[in-house]
Order: sequence, then C-alpha cells, then structure tokens
Amino acid sequence: MTVELLAQWMKQSKTTVVLTGAGMSTESGIPDFRSQSGWWQNIDPRTVTTTDSLLKNYAMFREFYQMRIQALKKCAPHKGHHILADLEKRGLISLIATQNVDQLHQQAGSKKVAELHGNILTARCQKCNKPHAKEQFLNNAICTYCLGKLRPNVVLFGETLPMEAWNRSLNEIQNADLVIVIGTSLEVYPVNQLPQMAKGRLVYINLDQSSDSGQFDLVLEGTAGEILAELDEALEGYSKG
Ligand code: APR
Repeated sequence: MTVELLAQWMKQSKTTVVLTGAGMSTESGIPDFRSQSGWWQNIDPRTVTTTDSLLKNYAMFREFYQMRIQALKKCAPHKGHHILADLEKRGLISLIATQNVDQLHQQAGSKKVAELHGNILTARCQKCNKPHAKEQFLNNAICTYCLGKLRPNVVLFGETLPMEAWNRSLNEIQNADLVIVIGTSLEVYPVNQLPQMAKGRLVYINLDQSSDSGQFDLVLEGTAGEILAELDEALEGYSKG
C-alpha cells in the first residue's frame, strides 16, 4: 500500500477533501500539541485555551496567544502546503478543512479552506464581539467600544465551532470520493468525528499511527512534506480540466 495507490485514487476521485491538523505545520516550525515536542507537554491546556482561562486568568491567556502570534511571524508555508495549493489549482482537491489557526494553507495559495478552529491572526472583543486588529491584542489594548477583553478568533475549548466552516466541511466530506487526513491525532471532538462521516475512501498521512487508524483504507506513516512530495511525483503533473 503506497503513495502510488493514493495517486491512483486521486485521479479516479471526482471530489477529494483534505482534513489537516497541527502536524501539517510542524515542518514550518510551529509545534503541534500532543507530540513529545508539543505545546501541551509543558502547558496545561486548561490554563490557556478555555473561556474560563480567558475570563479568570486573562494575563496568562493573553501571554500564551501573544507568544504564538509572535512565533508565527517567523514561519512560512513549507513544500507540503504549496503542493496542496497546487493540487487545488489542478482540480484535484475541492476543500481543505483545517484545525490549524495559522493560515499557512491560505498563505501557500489554497483558496478553498474551511477554518474549523478559527484563526489566530484576527481578534475581537470577548464581550461585544466587535472586530479588532491583531496588533491591538498584541499591544495589550482593551476594546475600543466597551472596554472589554480582546481575544484572538480561535475556538476555545467549550466553544462551538464556526457553523459555516463546520457545515461546509461535513457536507463536502460526506459527499467526497476520497478524504485525506494529514497531521492530526484525531483526539479533539467534534472534528475527530468527521472521518467517520465519509462515504468514500479514507487515507491517513501522519508521523505516527493514531488510536483510530483502523478506520482508514490506507495509512502512510511519515512527514506531511515528504509524503506529499512523493504523491506529487506519483501524480506526474496530472490535472483535471
Ligand atoms: N507530518 C505528519 N504528521 C505529523 C508531523 C509531520 N511533519 N508532525 C507531527 N505530526 C503528527 C503527530 O504525530 C500527531 O499525531 O501530527 C499529530 C498532531 O496531533 P495534535 O498535536 O494532537 O494536533 P491536532 O490533532 O491538530 O490537535 C487538534 O487540539 O489543542 C487543540 O485546538 C487545538 O486544533 C488543535 C486540536
């Protein structure tokens, strides 16, 4: 079971959806969450990623997200992101549904992206929801309208996912011939339910096996960058009109 088989399935597939997680961005220098080098090795997620932490522990909450936004400034999409953007242009990918908040897919040129966990590069007021610039959040500003606390537009644990992104991802995954899951441990609900909603073939590209690997028709262990490069080679420039 190889990348060549995946290339064959992509050529046969009318609709292919890609679901990505933090493992898609580690080769760009952004840690994931649950690996040995992940954020949650040193930080208890409950102290920085819940609405409770925002309301009761704002200084720590803000510092964590400011640090992540600052770190992102030094990061750029890697070859894997660019290959996915190119495959979209060649009509081989109809949607990237991502848990990532770093917008690296869009920076690489992907146009059809559903941000299931929001994005870290825009901000709003926690109280009145009015949009604010990322810089205002970085500069410890408060809401210019209601003096409320500012926060990035990421989905915190306990919050619902953006409805448009969820419905679009669910709908496209349910109707896809092929779903490729890349760089996620599939530990976080409700996104970890999406692969089970797929009627088509299911493929998993990840550094290590997840507890749910059994549900996949094909598992390719390795880095996203390397395997997508092999896939691109196996596709030999194939594109859909
Ligand atoms: N290529 C392929 N897989 C990789 C790579 C890589 N270069 N680097 C890491 N991985 C794999 C890891 O082995 C791990 O299985 O990616 C997976 C990342 O899993 P998590 O760290 O759990 O990240 P993710 O699944 O995206 O987390 C989901 O949890 O903390 C919340 O909101 C946060 O969106 C995030 C959600």
